[in-house]
Amino acid sequence: MTTTLIIGTQWGDEGKGKVVDYFSKNADYVVRYHGGNNAGHTIKVGEEVYKLHLIPSGVIQGKTGVIGNGVVLDPEMLIKEIDELTKRGIKPKILISDRTNIIMPYHKILDGAEEKYLGDKKIGTTKRGIGPCYSDKVARRGIRTIDLTNKNSLSKKLDQIIPIKQRILDVYNIDKKLDKKEILDAYIRYGEKLKNFITITHIELNNAIKNGKNIIFEGAQGTMLDVDFGTYPYTTSSHTIAGGAAIGIGISPKHINSIIGIVKAYTTRVGEGPLPTELFDKTGEHLQQKGHEYGTTTSRPRRCGWLDLVVVQHSCMISGITKLAITKLDVLNGLKQVKICTQYQLNNRKIDFFPANIEDVRKCKPIYKELEGWNKIDKDASKLSDLPKEAQEYLQYIEKELQVPIALVSIGPGRRETIEV
Ligand code: GDP
Ligand code: IMO
Ligand code: MG
Repeated sequence: MTTTLIIGTQWGDEGKGKVVDYFSKNADYVVRYHGGNNAGHTIKVGEEVYKLHLIPSGVIQGKTGVIGNGVVLDPEMLIKEIDELTKRGIKPKILISDRTNIIMPYHKILDGAEEKYLGDKKIGTTKRGIGPCYSDKVARRGIRTIDLTNKNSLSKKLDQIIPIKQRILDVYNIDKKLDKKEILDAYIRYGEKLKNFITITHIELNNAIKNGKNIIFEGAQGTMLDVDFGTYPYTTSSHTIAGGAAIGIGISPKHINSIIGIVKAYTTRVGEGPLPTELFDKTGEHLQQKGHEYGTTTSRPRRCGWLDLVVVQHSCMISGITKLAITKLDVLNGLKQVKICTQYQLNNRKIDFFPANIEDVRKCKPIYKELEGWNKIDKDASKLSDLPKEAQEYLQYIEKELQVPIALVSIGPGRRETIEV
């Protein structure tokens, strides 16, 4: 029996979908436990490309996908995703926690309103209602999956919530009338469609652990978007670090056997907020173009820069990462020289930790280790020794600096373009 947690170590889009799909071949369950449809996880099988936002990536391998209590769930989007997959010949097996918080129409409107209010200080959210939904969860006025199956109780909750939300919309000068009946009817309809999936997933998963099943816990976003340990306030609203998994699933942390941290061979970020190794030159363009760095969810161009080991070290420490998966190594093909940030210069100090103060982060200048680049990676490479010597040195340098072993290297988006170490 193994349980494996797979998380992003940077600002998201590290290739979690690909890596989760790869390891799903031996899994019984694949579980999403935080975030919502702000995520976009891509899986490429042959010529088929799947972009999943809510459904766990393991369903592509026919495994049971679980949406845990820690997720914020937009039921309309989930139904759409299920229908789209079904049309493509994959009927996803899904279980949804009875405790998952639901993204309501007013959350999506408020996400946009708050961003507009922030003006040039905006976070650059995906506008999927993630922050407002998590805010309501911790304020104890959330709607949960179980509420979608009881019209009476949902109606009473909406009677309490909607007038307050309406007043907040007025404060933001948003000319939108929330129609309680319309919302109630729509969400009861979603409940009807989803009711067969809704169950007590934490009992199912704790039993599965007891019975020796293989389970993958699929992280979304990445450490630097964690609401405590990321570039706050330019973060998402959930815990992207390993500690978030136990809470978002309803299992003990002692049941997590290994923690794989995914490290993109360079750095990207979508949305606003500082990115110390960001490049605005030809190399930045190279990474963006060769890496097809456009958001899977919002299609926004991703900002690109050199690999930042201050960030990845921060991730390894906080999440206790036991193995690394390095992705998109092929994107560095053709660069004469490659750089890795090992420390920051902050005013007149050299630091090797990530500062809490966002203004300090803005001032951090990366200090780089320079290494030789390489021309090309053979798409059929199946072991590390098939890689160019310089690419091997790049990987060895990462491993040595982080003191965490590399378990997987990805050299292309497809399943086969993977080297297991
Ligand atoms: P996620 O959010 O972490 O699942 O990552 P995304 O799916 O948003 O973005 C990663 C992108 O890189 C996707 O388009 C993947 O198909 C692609 N990808 C994943 N691994 C590799 C790789 O090793 N090389 C290349 N060139 N592309 C990759
Ligand atoms: P995956 O799982 C990259 C970013 C948004 C924004 C910030 C807050 O595909 O790696 P939110 O809508 O969550 O309130 O936005 O977080 N963001 C992501 N960036 N990948 C993601 O998910 C992201 N999910 C949210 O761009 O900067
Ligand atoms: Mg993504």
